[in-house]
Amino acid sequence: MEREYTLSEGDFLVSETDEKGVITFANEDFCAIAGYKREELLGKNHNIVRHNDMPKAAFKDLWQTVQSGKVWTGIVKNAVKGGGFYWVFATVYPMISCGSKRGYMSCRRMATRDEIKKAEELYKTLN
Ligand SMILES: Cc1cc2nc3c(=O)[nH]c(=O)nc-3n(C[C@H](O)[C@H](O)[C@H](O)COP(=O)(O)O)c2cc1C
Repeated sequence: MEREYTLSEGDFLVSETDEKGVITFANEDFCAIAGYKREELLGKNHNIVRHNDMPKAAFKDLWQTVQSGKVWTGIVKNAVKGGGFYWVFATVYPMISCGSKRGYMSCRRMATRDEIKKAEELYKTLN
């Protein structure tokens, strides 16, 4: 059995990517929960924290949504570096920063047991 890491109510995990999904920023909470030092995350594709149980369809939907300028929300299961996983409620924003370069930002809080249960059921039906 994989170990589940449960977030605390005050945890707020933030990361930013460039237009291709390469990590350009990660806050303290994100690094701590994911089990990485910041320098191990910066410059890597965000799929570095992808958990195998996540269906491709979820990320296809995420990318289609943010690339069309809209905000995506969803329940995401992420892998921890040394093994194990954690669930989050994620909100992903498209952003245009100075110089008109596009990037994306994800803000994540603890997912509730109910949200996790529903996501687990839904994700079993997707691939
Ligand atoms: C701002 C932002 C944050 C993301 N956060 C995560 C994340 O926490 N976990 C994850 O598995 N994918 C995340 N993704 C999606 C990944 O870029 C990637 O599409 C996904 O991990 C699936 O990997 P693949 O595209 O190589 O199949 C994020 C994307 C963006 C734009």
